[in-house]
Amino acid sequence: MRKPIIAGNWKMNKTRDEALQFIYNVNTKLPSKEFVESVICTQSPILRDMVKRQGENLRIGAQNMHYLDSGAYTGEVSALLLVDLGVEYVIIGHSERRAYYNETDDSVNKKTHHAFNHGLNPIVCVGESLEIREANKTDEFIKVQVVNALKGLTKDQIKVLVLAYEPIWAIGTGKTATSEMANDTIKAIRNVVVDLYDKETAEAMRIQYGGSVKPANIKELLSMSDIDGALVGGASLDADSFLQLVNAGTK
Ligand code: PGA
Repeated sequence: MRKPIIAGNWKMNKTRDEALQFIYNVNTKLPSKEFVESVICTQSPILRDMVKRQGENLRIGAQNMHYLDSGAYTGEVSALLLVDLGVEYVIIGHSERRAYYNETDDSVNKKTHHAFNHGLNPIVCVGESLEIREANKTDEFIKVQVVNALKGLTKDQIKVLVLAYEPIWAIGTGKTATSEMANDTIKAIRNVVVDLYDKETAEAMRIQYGGSVKPANIKELLSMSDIDGALVGGASLDADSFLQLVNAGTK
């Protein structure tokens, strides 16, 4: 049994006060981490504040990091610092990073290795554009992203890795992929991992769906055979909404 993981991706939203108020509102109400993993990924400057105040059922993640430890990379964040702050997760290769900040399959792979080397849990994002979906090329496109992202990782690393399948056309648009569509693509991803590694490894790896997930559609998504959680933007910003999302993961 794969434990569901619900991760909020706050993107470039919330001040420090707003973030701390959110933690205060959810901390005692979150379901036990025995049943569902709850993660919030914030902007880097408030990560330390978040970690200090996280309750026992909440984990904190960053939204990006560099693949080198240190150096002349203005504006970047080092994994060494994230670990130092007590951060446990890091989103890698989000489609917004791929679209606006030159994130490539190669840098995604380097960052994923780097995260593991430093004991951070990577949430690796893949997903197709509407053009690719409409041309019926989703599976082959995603396969290339997955093969490249996972290059050189060990079976043990794959088993703890979290992959997020996020169709770009569904992010922030209110258009969710149907649960069947999401599940089919996620199954195809799992089959790629079977071919690259083996069935046992692929069955252990958790794959989230992301793209306009909200309290109204989370239950149906999580009821599907291969969807192991969600990476959520907009609907993770509100405390009550986030609680409903993680509670759906306990069912
Ligand atoms: P959304 O964002 O839930 O607002 O569509 C998802 C994401 O980008 O991870």
